Parts: sequence; C-alpha cells; structure tokens
Amino acid sequence: MVDVHDLNEGDLNQEDLSSRERIPVDVVSSADEGARRVAAEVAVLIRERQMANAQVVLGLATGSSPVRFYRELIRLHREEGLSFANVVTFNLDEYYPLAADHAESYRRFMQEQLFDHIDIPPENIHIPDGSVSREKAHAHAREYEERIREAGGIDFQILGIGRTGHIGFNEPGSDAHSRTRLVPLNALTRQDAARDFLGLEKVPPYGITMGVGTILEAREVVLFAWGQAKAKVIAQAVEGPVDPALPASFLQHHGEAWMVLDEAAAGELSRYRFPWLVKLMDWQPRLIRQAVSWLSEETGKSVLRLVESDYADHGLADLLAQAGPAYGLNIRIFNELQHTISGWPGGKPRADDSTRPERASPHPKRVLVLAPEPLDDVFGLGGTLSRLVRQGHEVTVAYMTSGSLGVPEEDAEGAQELLLEAAREGILEAPSQERSLSPDKAPPASPSEASGKAPSEAISKEQKANQWRRLKALMRRREARSATALCGLSADSLRFLDLPFYETGRYRSFHPGGADARAVQSLLEDLQPHQVFATGQGEDPTSLAAVCYGVFAQAWEATQDAAWRAESRLWLYRAHSEDWPVHAVDMAVPLSPDELRAKVSAVYCHLSQRNQLPGTGEAGDEAWYRAVRRNRAAAGVYHRLGLAEYEAMEFFRRGD
Ligand code: F6R
Repeated sequence: MVDVHDLNEGDLNQEDLSSRERIPVDVVSSADEGARRVAAEVAVLIRERQMANAQVVLGLATGSSPVRFYRELIRLHREEGLSFANVVTFNLDEYYPLAADHAESYRRFMQEQLFDHIDIPPENIHIPDGSVSREKAHAHAREYEERIREAGGIDFQILGIGRTGHIGFNEPGSDAHSRTRLVPLNALTRQDAARDFLGLEKVPPYGITMGVGTILEAREVVLFAWGQAKAKVIAQAVEGPVDPALPASFLQHHGEAWMVLDEAAAGELSRYRFPWLVKLMDWQPRLIRQAVSWLSEETGKSVLRLVESDYADHGLADLLAQAGPAYGLNIRIFNELQHTISGWPGGKPRADDSTRPERASPHPKRVLVLAPEPLDDVFGLGGTLSRLVRQGHEVTVAYMTSGSLGVPEEDAEGAQELLLEAAREGILEAPSQERSLSPDKAPPASPSEASGKAPSEAISKEQKANQWRRLKALMRRREARSATALCGLSADSLRFLDLPFYETGRYRSFHPGGADARAVQSLLEDLQPHQVFATGQGEDPTSLAAVCYGVFAQAWEATQDAAWRAESRLWLYRAHSEDWPVHAVDMAVPLSPDELRAKVSAVYCHLSQRNQLPGTGEAGDEAWYRAVRRNRAAAGVYHRLGLAEYEAMEFFRRGD
C-alpha cells in the first residue's frame, strides 16, 4: 500500500483512493438509506430465486448494525409482499453458555428483530445453540458447518464489526481458515456487552461462531457500520494490511465483499482525513484548517513553524499555491484556532465578540443542556457547566431518559438493602412490605407469604419489574443531583423527562414516538433557551445518544418558526464518544486544574456508571479517569499546534 506520508503531489489522483481502499466502500447519507439499498438487493435475489423455484441462503448478524436492515426487510414483507418462504438463514454466532430464551440470546434477538415478523418457515432458521453441553459443542459446530454445506453455501452474508475488528465472534488472532467453533470472547467485546447483560460478570465468557473461513466462503458479503465509534477500526480494515489481529481485514481477500457506512463510520478513511491527497480540492476555510492542523501534527511542528517545504513535501503544494505563502497561511490558521478557545462559553458580557465563538449578549443567557441520561452532562461538559453557572447564566439540565437500564443489578440490590436495613433500625419509616423488589428473586409463592399482606397487596411480576426499574431511576436521579450540585446547580434547575420510549424499550429496541418529541418541544417552548447543548449526532443510530438526538432534532425543527428561535443557538457536545478533530471544533473551553478536579468529583458521583461506559473495562478505565484523560488530551492537541498549554479542555461544535 502507498503510505500517505510518502506521497507527493505528482502521485496524487483518483486511483490512489481505490488502491488505498482495499474493500469497496459505499458511503451513504444515513443508516436507513444503507439498509434500504442492501435490502433492495436482497429482495431482488429472493424474488429471482422464487421465480426459479429455488432457495436463497442468507448469513445473518445480530447487534445494532443490522437492525435497520431487518426493519426494512419487515417493511418489504408487509408493504410490498416480499415472501421469505424460500429463504434459509444461518446466523453468525451465539453467546455460550446461554439459554435460547435468555433476554440477550441472539436467538431471541433474531426472533424479535426479524423472524417473528416475516413468513420464514421456522425449520429454515439456523442459529448456533448456546445451550449444548461443552462436550457436544465441537460436534455441534461441525454439524453447523455441515448444514451450511447441505444448504448449498451462503449466498449473501451480513456482517457488523466489533471494536476489536471482529466479525462474528472471530476475535483478534483468528485464523483466515477458521471454521465454526467455540471461542473465548475478547475482554473488549465482553465489556461492550456488559450494559445489555446488566453487568460484566453476567456476560458469557464464550461464543460459538462461524469461522473466518466460513464467512469468506459466502458468495457475497456486506458489512454495515454506523457511527464514529467504528471509524478507526473501519479505516484499519479497509486500508491497513491484512492481519489476523484485525479479522475484518480478511475481507480484503474476498472479491465480492463491500461495506456500507455512514459518513461518521467512514470518517477515518484517507478520502476524508486527507482528501487533498486523493483529489484536487476546492480549498474551503474548514478544509484549510484541517490540512494545516494535520500538517502540524504530521511534522511535529507547531503551526507557526511550518515552512514551504513542509507543505510541498506533504502533498499540500496546491494549498500553498492558492492560499500561501506559508507564513501568512500559518498565522491565519493560528488565529482561527486561537479564536475557538474561550473561557466564556455563554459569551463574554460587554466584550467585543466579533472573533469569539459565542455572542456577548444577551447576558445572562437561558441555557439548556440536554443529556440523554444522567452522567452525559457532567462527563461531556461538566467544566463548561460550572463556568456557565458561575458566569451568571440560567442553566437548566434536562435528562431525557431515566437511565434505569444502566444501573448494575448489584448496585440496585445494595440500595435496596440499605433502605431495608435503615427501616429495620427505625431510621426510616418501615416500608409497607419488607420484600425484595428484584424481579430476579422469585415472587412470593402465595399472597399470604407476602410478609402477611392481604392478597390485594401482592404485586405481579411485571409491577415488580417496573418498581425495580423505578428504584434504579431514583438512584440515577440522586447521582445526578449530587453531581450537578458540585457544578453549582440547584436541584430545581434539573428536569427529569423520563421519556416514554425509554421506559418501554431496551437497548437497540427503542422506538421513539410523538410523545417523546412533544415532551422535548414543550420543554424548549417553556424555557425558550438562548443556548442549547445537545449530544448524539453522528453516533450509531440505535444508540441511546443517537435516538435522543433524533427526538431532540424533531422538537428543534418543530420550533423553528418560533420568535425565540431567532435568538437561540445550538451547540453540540460529545458525551462518551471520541472528541472531534481540532479542525471541526468551534469552541474549546479550557479547564483549570481546579476545574478539572471539580469535574472529576462530579463524574465520580455517578458511581453506578463507573464501569458502564464502552471502555476497556480495565482498572484505570473508570469514568472519572477517562474524563481526565480525554479532556487533557484535548488540551494537548491545541498545545502541540503551538497554542497556549491548558490543563484540560472541553470541545464543542456549532449545530446550526
Ligand atoms: C453479531 C456479531 C458481531 C457484531 C459486532 C458489531 O452477530 O457477530 O460481530 O456484528 O460486534 O456489533 P454492533 O452492530 O452491535 O456494533
């Protein structure tokens, strides 16, 4: 492969793009569009085979990535009469050991997301069995391969990609010729599943997966990836060497494999990171900032020290020709970057604001921070929140969902135990029924056993589950109140919207409706904010953050003609996903060492979330450490470019 750094301008043309991208990539405007495109292709295949009285064999994946695709298949079935009577399916994998009826089993996922809604004959469905005994696992895997062969092999294989670069459960180290087998799950993969399973220790340690060799034998393979969290691993798989350390890179050896990505997931490909190396550019201001900051990072020189030859040697002679000489260009970009730094996130009153990211007036501003769930606020912009409060603005933090799904079981059990113990000791009033709320604990066998209560007071399993979830929601409210108090906010500045889509949904199966957007809209109309801080744009569309952003975007659009909107501005922040590259940042708010320390204390209040973020799960990766690392790294970027050295920074981007 051509190394980007070895290129000079003369080498550059469109062909470099295809030589660098070793798997064809289709970048679509949204996951829905990508799902429609692939579903249409599958529908053609199914219909062609129907005409020939033949079967189609589909290889299917679970997880977030194919969810939209399955929804589209269901729509095609319902609205366009697409029948699946001639379709045979083989799923990639299943957790092991895990019962088929477990809430997180891939069997159950497939039933709920697809099979229950189409006319596929049940006997045509194949999913590895996570409940076979260990002695039989090997034979089961062999039999699975045999079934695939008997069916004539897989015609069309759907894939997602894990953060480790896995396809199926083929984790780093998997062999190109591997077949269906029992494998241990990688620590990162288990960590990513921890939320679904309500705790890392509940994630099964193994999986049964088709092998890389099995997957590569499919006649056509499509890999879906959405959201910026996948961008790095996608770039490595597409442009890096074929390497067992990144199993998805084996797809480079398959002549009929392609990827369908949204722009966020494609964002680390060369064509986006250094577009000037692959085509002639129309040098817009943002692109110039991207090129110069990239050049500065590449050469290890601050922006003001870049010279003509740095530009020329790195494929940027064309930029110099248009916007040079280097020194003037350097100064221009240095100033642009400088102007994004502001310790006045709500605007500096009575100051010249012509080069500041935010307007000076009105002051104070009404500020609304929207957090998909508690913690997103202080993790994403805790330092900025404190500044806004200190600088006199009227700040409201609205938690869109209760966040109850994110509380580990043992934390809720601990809270319950504390309450019961306090009641027993007479510190609190005794609860009406001293019983376990946990739905996992068997409900009382008969009403009379329910601590001697009358039959009418015995509660159903469903009520119990709701109460348990409510307890978890209350825990998160309490954490949110403690955390925001450290940022100077009083409890009455907080709104807990408890949007209904969340209360009735689960991860990957959130279906927001009109009631959700109306709740956010009435909040907007009530507050008429001058600034709104929101997060979730560019994330995997099934993630909670993206679903919440979608709900907000609907409400935001519905208020666009309101008079107050002329005065209001949207700012985007990133909660748990990686920060934007510096050229995309419109406002960088510096944090002093004390402010960073205060932020960490606020994050620490969300104890239930210590290991719930999609990190490595290792010691030192708890939420508060991550907040420190991330905000220090953000400041480091500016410093390396030659701007002032701050302790830490929080990044924002204009959303309108
Ligand atoms: C699922 C599977 C996995 C997922 C991958 C991405 O059957 O085999 O390889 O495709 O972990 O998961 P999501 O789509 O949830 O990001």
